[in-house]
Amino acid sequence: MCGIVGYTGPREAYPIVIKGLKRLEYRGYDSTGVALHNGKLNVYKKKGKVAELEDSIVGTNLHSHIGIGHTRWATHGEPSDRNAHPHQSASGQLAMIHNGIIENYNQLKQELINKGYSFRSDTDTEVLLNFIEEIKKNNECSLEEAVRVALKRVTGAYVILLMDESDPETIIAARKGSPLVIGVGKGEHFLGSDASPMLEYTKEVVYVNDYELAIVRPDELILKNLGNEKITPYVQKLDIELAAIEKGGYEHFMLKEIYEQPQTVYDCLRGRLDAAAGTITMSGIQQYAEQIINANRIVMVACGTSWHAGLVAEYIFEELCRINVEVEYASEFRYRNPVINKGDVIIAISQSGETADTLVAIENAKNNGAIILGVVNVVGSSIARMSHAGAYTHAGPEIGVASTKAFTAQLAVLTMIALKIGYIKGTIPQDRYLRLLKELEEVPEKVAWTLKHADNIKALAEKYKEARDFLYLGRGYNFPVALEGALKLKEISYIHAEGYPAAEMKHGPIALVDENLPVVFVATRDSYHEKVVSNMQEIKARKGKVISVISEGDETSAALSEDVMVVPEADEILAPMLSVIPLQLLAYYIGLARGCDVDKPRNLAKSVTVE
Ligand code: M6R
Repeated sequence: MCGIVGYTGPREAYPIVIKGLKRLEYRGYDSTGVALHNGKLNVYKKKGKVAELEDSIVGTNLHSHIGIGHTRWATHGEPSDRNAHPHQSASGQLAMIHNGIIENYNQLKQELINKGYSFRSDTDTEVLLNFIEEIKKNNECSLEEAVRVALKRVTGAYVILLMDESDPETIIAARKGSPLVIGVGKGEHFLGSDASPMLEYTKEVVYVNDYELAIVRPDELILKNLGNEKITPYVQKLDIELAAIEKGGYEHFMLKEIYEQPQTVYDCLRGRLDAAAGTITMSGIQQYAEQIINANRIVMVACGTSWHAGLVAEYIFEELCRINVEVEYASEFRYRNPVINKGDVIIAISQSGETADTLVAIENAKNNGAIILGVVNVVGSSIARMSHAGAYTHAGPEIGVASTKAFTAQLAVLTMIALKIGYIKGTIPQDRYLRLLKELEEVPEKVAWTLKHADNIKALAEKYKEARDFLYLGRGYNFPVALEGALKLKEISYIHAEGYPAAEMKHGPIALVDENLPVVFVATRDSYHEKVVSNMQEIKARKGKVISVISEGDETSAALSEDVMVVPEADEILAPMLSVIPLQLLAYYIGLARGCDVDKPRNLAKSVTVE
């Protein structure tokens, strides 16, 4: 993970770099650092968040027209001042920041130790930096050449940015497996892990590809491959507005993103779904429709919340398309030597489009002949580019570490794909197809209704905030929602929570139930409802505290529950887009009531670009 920022041009670099780092803090916030050039290289770094670094260097002369900055999510070496980036080479001539992992750093370190090097930090970054410096010294070559030679020896993933004391205008950058965007301004260039640090300065960006190296000066951007051949930069226009990455009056990004969902689901459906005409327009999916219909199986590959979206989609695809579906954790799938046949279709689900495990999993599958479809939020991200085709979720930038609006948008896209394929294949009766299209069109309104009727959730949070454990139960389409509710609570409030299929509970977890255990049922009215009501009785009989997400007007479930959160009636296929919303709010308010930093929970980062 980690966030990286760079600037070279006529403006003061420090404010640009610091503001950029604040926007990238969602990627990691264990420690922060910047390197500037004011006649010589100056490095300032510190354990903690960006604001702590800022406070610690108030009053320092930070004048510089070039700068690089880093916000870290620790991999090698604990979060500390000395492990913070930028690192400086043994001579002090070079400064470098790095996002990723150098897998063979031990071997390189040993070679350097044999040559007399010693290290100030525990990081793989410092090893790579000194390795570059050693090559530069031995080969008497330019920094650019030394980086190229070094990277040919490196295994692992990286984005690196380097500054050289003897060249106060140039940043050398390279990438493999971690994201790098370069913003092209007039007589200036910006670098970032994503485009957010450069949004107010330029909309013209270049997404650097794996195995590419960039030489970035104020009025020059040279891209090369590791074979030293020049590549013409492909400049793209961004269509994100600054407002999309600001809090807009909300206390936290997470709350803003929860409340954006009526709009984000609408944006996701817009231009695709036309219920009156009975059509779903998705050109990328249309192109591969025949292969999907004839697929031996569909494998959903994802991590975390995106994996939960895949689980809901498994039920939907099997129901509507009658195709065998498997849902895989990308981290398991990539290492397991899975059997992949030519007719397999892989659907990679990812908000960031940069999750390392998902990326490598689909790369392996692609090499084995599978068709890769991406359901991705970030336009131009690595997973989107690795996919043969797909559909963007159009949820806009998601900055809160806990994924919320990305999940409902993923469900909307996956539902549309299933409806489209089922319709072409003839596995959905015409009247059900048309009814589902109409109901899907109503989902944004129903999400808005749910948010309007959520006033009691803050009080519930106060009531249950001291609980040590939570159990989340659901069946059918609501089972993955139970998993998602538990994940949200864990990551935001640090309360232990488990999600379970409601019927499976009696095979073990029921032993946990006593008067202290809140049990959250996701119990909207669907074909499993009677069974879920029986499960509620079982919990109640053992004095567990039943809290339920129920459909409006469901008196039976309400009577069995100590507290309820209400959502509007919906077809069971669409219900998860509604039933998850009270659970997002419950996690948010419990986290808040416990004094947790909900946008930046401890130990986490927004995109997990390391394995
Ligand atoms: O960007 P991705 O959707 O690929 O990320 C996958 C997970 O890392 C992510 O969903 C994570 O579990 C979130 N923190 C959940 O809120």
